[in-house]
Formats: sequence, C-alpha cells, structure tokens
Amino acid sequence: AGASLTDGFGRQITYLRLSVTDRCDLRCTYCMSEHMTFLPRRDVLTLEELYRLSAVFMRHGVRKIRITGGEPLVRKNIMSLFEMLSHHLRSGELDEVVVTTNGSQLSRYAKSLHEAGVRRVNVSLDSLDPVRFRAVTRCGDLAKVLDGIDSALAAGLKVKLNAVAMKGAFEEELDGLIRFAHGRGMDLTLIEEMPLGTVCHDRKESYLRLDALRQDLEKRYTLSPLADQTGGPARYVRVGETGGKLGFITPLSCDFCASCNRIRVACTGELYTCMGKEGAVDLREALRRDSSDEPVSSLIFGAIARKPRGHSFAIGAQDVQGIGRHMSVLGG
Ligand code: GTP
Ligand code: 5AD
Ligand code: SF4
Repeated sequence: AGASLTDGFGRQITYLRLSVTDRCDLRCTYCMSEHMTFLPRRDVLTLEELYRLSAVFMRHGVRKIRITGGEPLVRKNIMSLFEMLSHHLRSGELDEVVVTTNGSQLSRYAKSLHEAGVRRVNVSLDSLDPVRFRAVTRCGDLAKVLDGIDSALAAGLKVKLNAVAMKGAFEEELDGLIRFAHGRGMDLTLIEEMPLGTVCHDRKESYLRLDALRQDLEKRYTLSPLADQTGGPARYVRVGETGGKLGFITPLSCDFCASCNRIRVACTGELYTCMGKEGAVDLREALRRDSSDEPVSSLIFGAIARKPRGHSFAIGAQDVQGIGRHMSVLGG
C-alpha cells in the first residue's frame, strides 16, 4: 500500500464519495433548478476509469466508498462497477461499499447490490404523501420508491432514509416519517437544506434549523443521544417511543467539519476536498494521459494537503452564503 492521505489539519481521509453520473430521473426542488443541463458523455469517466480511480484511493488508505450521483442507479451498466469493487470487499481492502439513491430504481437493483457485497443503502424520502412527494421531486412516483425500499429490505440491505428538512408541510409529515422508518427497522436522518446552486425558491424562506426542530420534537418524544458511530456528520438519538434511530445533519446550525474523513470525486474525475467550497482538482486529464497512476496520486496528495478546514455555508435572515455548484454534481 502507498502512503496514507492526511490533510493539513491532521485529518485522515479513509472515505471516498464517488459520483458516477450527474444525471437523475428526479428533479428535487432543493437540489436542482427546473431546467438543468447535463454533461456531455465524453466529459464523464467510464466505469473502468471510475474503478481505476477508486483503486488509487484504496491504495492510499480509503476503506469506505459511497457511490452517489445524481442518481447512481440510472448509470448504464452500473452493476459492473459494484462487481469490480466487490473484489476489494472480499480481500478486506475495503470495509464497505455503500450507495445513496433516490430509490426509484431500487426494486430492480436491490438483489444484485446485495450480491455484490453492498450491505447498506441510503434512500432519499422527503414525503409519504404522493402529492407532496411529486411536488418535492417534480416528477417522482412515490409508489415506485416505496417498492424500492421494500425490495431493499427484502434483499437484506440495511436502509437509512434521508429527508431534507424544509419549512411547511415537511414539519407536519415528520411524525409520519418517523413512524414509517422506525416501524420497518430503518434509521431516519434529517438534513438541513444546504445552499448549493440556484434553485427555484428562496432558501431563506425554506430553511429550517434542525436545532429548533429538535427542541420541538423533544416536546413529543424522548430523545437520548447516542455515541457517534459512523464518523460521519450525522448526530444520532434514540427515540424512546419507537425504539428507532433519528439522525441530524446540521452543517449550518452546528458544524461537524473538524472530524471530516471524506473527499469526493465527481463523475468528471474532479476531486473536491470539501463539499462546501468552490474549486476542484481535475484528475481526468492525468488519468487519460498516462497509464501510470503516479501522476494521479501526486495530484491527490497535493489536493488533500490543501483540504479546507470546513465549508463556508451560511443562511441568515438577510442573506444566503452558498456556492454555485448544484448538489447533483457530487451527490452530497
Ligand atoms: P455516511 O456516509 O454513512 O456517514 O452517511 P451520510 O448520511 O453522510 O451519507 P448520505 O449520502 O446519506 O448523505 C446525507 C446528507 O449528508 C447529504 O445531504 C450530504 O450532502 C450530507 N453530507 C454528507 N457528508 C457531508 C459533509 O462532509 N459535509 C456536509 N456539509 N454535508 C455532508
Ligand atoms: N441540501 C441538503 N441536502 C440535499 N440533498 C440534495 N440537495 C440538498 C441540499 N441542497 C440530499 C438528497 C439526498 C442527499 C444525497 O442529499 O435528498 O438524500
Ligand atoms: Fe436527484 Fe438526489 Fe438531486 Fe433529488 S436530490 S434531484 S434524487 S440527485
């Protein structure tokens, strides 16, 4: 194995979030604008190139890979990437390959994912009401996603649900989401809306602080904090009334960057060392130019040495401080 990846603040990078496409079959309002232009094919890495990059990161100590998008399961032939990665699970070089998906294609893929060694999937689900689900996703079919979730559970995958917290109807639906998730043995994580890219609403109006929401929940539920288990940004509590786990991802109201262990690669081969900052390092050119991985490795080390301390998101009563790139470029 090569040298491991440690940044300028002594944080060790062991977790790669790999986006395999910028495309998605949904258009969630907090993620995308109504009209999006997607990348031309030549700019997108082939599955072999994505695998080759993953292998470089593994050589430098990455032990967990999360496949994201856009929507990763709309990428043609995507199972071949999971199959290539599965060898590294079997050899013990990787601890985990996991997926973040909108669930729309899960009924088709759940079984094969499990066969390829995937044990956990995160599924975005913002509403259990078909009409509101359609409004949030612009074109999603709730029944398809619920089917996908059932298939995942039936295939033996552990499912975590993600919901983006927004003012309004979401607050009324929260109890239903908690009951739904915990009733099926799934964790539920609430995410603060992050100002990535321009969307069709004003995020100042929709932004819901999760610290406030949590106080509100404490009036109805007994929430006992759990020790950090994933090393990720989510802070979990046990809900006494349901026995299930509820997570809070609060980049804006409570910072978690100090323990960051992750980096991101877009489907273009751009390396982003922080989701909440502009700027990336292009690995594609070096990858395509050279059959040796050396130049790619040295670009990676250079970028990680300059990994920023943390994001610079802010949503105040008066203004929003965000970045231009949409969430769908990196899948979170
Ligand atoms: P683990 O990988 O197991 O920790 O799960 P996760 O909850 O981090 O992953 P998931 O893909 O489900 O992401 C849920 C939300 O967390 C998304 O909205 C991500 O954008 C957000 N998120 C994940 N990592 C980070 C991070 O490092 N910084 C910020 N600001 N948000 C993050
Ligand atoms: N802020 C917070 N979460 C977002 N997601 C997409 N866009 C945003 C945003 N602007 C969520 C999706 C998915 C996860 C990968 O990121 O709902 O669950
Ligand atoms: Fe697609 Fe995910 Fe963005 Fe929704 S949040 S539009 S499911 S990439």
